Amino acid sequence: MSASLVTVAYIGATILFILSLGGLSNPETARRGNLFGVIGMTIAVLATVFGPRVTPSGYGWIIGALAVGGAIGMFAAKTVKMTQMPELVAAMHSLVGLAACLVGFASYVDTSTVFPTAAEKAIHEVEIYVGILIGAITFSGSIIAFGKLSGKIGGKPLLLPARHWLNLAGLLLVIWFGRQFLHAETIAAGMVPLLIMTVIALLFGVHMVMAIGGADMPVVVSMLNSYSGWAAAATGFMLSNDLLIVVGALVGSSGAILSYIMCRAMNRNFISVIAGGFGTGGGAPAAAAGDAAQPAGEVQPISAVETAEMLREAKSVVIVPGYGMAVAQAQHTVFEITKLLRDKGVNVRFGIHPVAGRMPGHMNVLLAEAKVPYDIVLEMDEINEDFPDTDVSMVIGANDIVNPAAQEDPASPIAGMPVLEVWKAHHSIVMKRSMASGYAGVDNPLFYKDNNRMLFGDAKKMLDEVLAALRV
Ligand code: TAP
Repeated sequence: MSASLVTVAYIGATILFILSLGGLSNPETARRGNLFGVIGMTIAVLATVFGPRVTPSGYGWIIGALAVGGAIGMFAAKTVKMTQMPELVAAMHSLVGLAACLVGFASYVDTSTVFPTAAEKAIHEVEIYVGILIGAITFSGSIIAFGKLSGKIGGKPLLLPARHWLNLAGLLLVIWFGRQFLHAETIAAGMVPLLIMTVIALLFGVHMVMAIGGADMPVVVSMLNSYSGWAAAATGFMLSNDLLIVVGALVGSSGAILSYIMCRAMNRNFISVIAGGFGTGGGAPAAAAGDAAQPAGEVQPISAVETAEMLREAKSVVIVPGYGMAVAQAQHTVFEITKLLRDKGVNVRFGIHPVAGRMPGHMNVLLAEAKVPYDIVLEMDEINEDFPDTDVSMVIGANDIVNPAAQEDPASPIAGMPVLEVWKAHHSIVMKRSMASGYAGVDNPLFYKDNNRMLFGDAKKMLDEVLAALRV
């Protein structure tokens, strides 16, 4: 394949990637967006493999790598549960970071490229240095995010004394070693500052994510998504691959926009979140999901049959799904109940919090999978003012996103985070297995409100019972 044909293929792939991102922004067009992405990536890979920069002697390596990588990807796609998607995404981000580091070191020791001028050589070295820097932060930060999201590392923020000074010292050292690197006479001499900077960047990535509390993790997930894009773009600069630069920039900037949206949804300041420790309320128990919270009053349990009765008598119902619905895989039963109630003339709608579940759009994906019509699935801002006119708000496996402490308790670790105001409905029913706290590890005063009832049990099992009672 000639160089010009490769360029044409790359332009085609770029257009497909842009269409893919556009499609993914709406549940109705998401499948098509995915397909555009797959076609674009296939074109990109084929054009690169059969382009002038790969010699036939390299085909064996490429086919071997494709087979191993493809097999791992297929295995992961088939075995990973929906609830494990966030940690899978974090693990994938770490691989992009690792790739940027490896390409950086390989480009540095590769002596086959001859640079016509000293300036071009210096530019290439800056690309290598910055590429490895971003790659190493993405790599170690994503591994810690993986640990936190999978519950292998506790959600409690690690707040080292003078942590901001440590970060500043790290930044100054990175700049100083960058200077050493650019002035190195030989590859061996340059390797020393390059390796030291890599270690500092790895430590910074660990420190940055360890300092972030449970409730702020959504911002970290989208931020690392953005970093992985910039790491890919840096790899593109090192390899002089225009497509990788463009695609990396697309991922990097869309991830940055998503981080901004997440920060707005959490009422957080982006800089404060990445500087660490913000929103953790002086080390509140932001622990792995499931930690028992301290009881703060009496709760009023309700049975599945009574729940069905309440729903049957309601004129308007708002369902608020959360992480527990994903764990229980209760979305199909939720939809069965929705259909039944709608057939009886009840106005049933869904209220979706931007950070419900464990990844952006988590609830929308589950509800779409269960074929819930999009027009009854509303964003938090669209539904919040309707709660006072709602007869029953039914919370299914959600906790932090319906916690009134965010509005009522300035000392709460989630203070200021906008929440779905389910307690303003005439009645609320919270469906969960126990009194355990949610991801942020804070107690929820909603459970003790006079107009609230607790339906204890696995969401799928309880909803099956509610459905059976509704059908009687
Ligand atoms: P959580 O606050 O984590 O609450 C989920 C609740 O579901 C738990 O209290 C749990 O209580 C219950 N549950 C678990 N398994 C269940 C089952 N099988 N049946 C019934 N209930 C079950 O979830 P949320 O309200 O969706 O809030 C999301 C939280 O995750 C926020 O703090 C957010 O910041 C954080 N987070 C979000 C993201 C993104 S991007 N969405 C990423 C990382 C973190 P029991 O154990 O008592 O059943």
